[in-house]
Amino acid sequence: MKKIVLIFALGLLSLGAVESEKLYKHCVVCHGKQGELVAIKSSPKLASLGQAELSARLKKVLDGSTSLSQNYLAMHQVKMKNLTPQETDAFAKYITELGQK
Ligand code: HEC
Repeated sequence: MKKIVLIFALGLLSLGAVESEKLYKHCVVCHGKQGELVAIKSSPKLASLGQAELSARLKKVLDGSTSLSQNYLAMHQVKMKNLTPQETDAFAKYITELGQK
């Protein structure tokens, strides 16, 4: 029983490849299939930031302390409504690896 609870808890904390893929579908149009685009001539290339930096920026988007302008912030928060602060590392890893394919 303990084991089952533990596995369940881990599942909640880390974002699987399937969920990452699903979530990133909301970003492709602007940031590119491999996180390689400069969205609307202003965004960083997501896959080139490095996992740690990207994860930190995602966290700031989620908590609102990002430097993104208000319009972009609201839009990003809607797109990332299913992402939790605990999952940004796994999601950043997924995007960073897309850039290496
Ligand atoms: C409609 C186009 C669009 C979509 C869709 C979009 N973005 Fe962005 N994103 C931008 C633009 C434009 C910027 C740069 C905004 C600026 O310069 O203020 C940006 C910036 C960012 C940044 C950088 C923040 C920083 O601190 O520098 C991250 C991280 C990011 N987007 C992640 C995502 C993720 C993850 C998704 C999908 C869940 C997503 N974006 C969907 C257009 C988009």
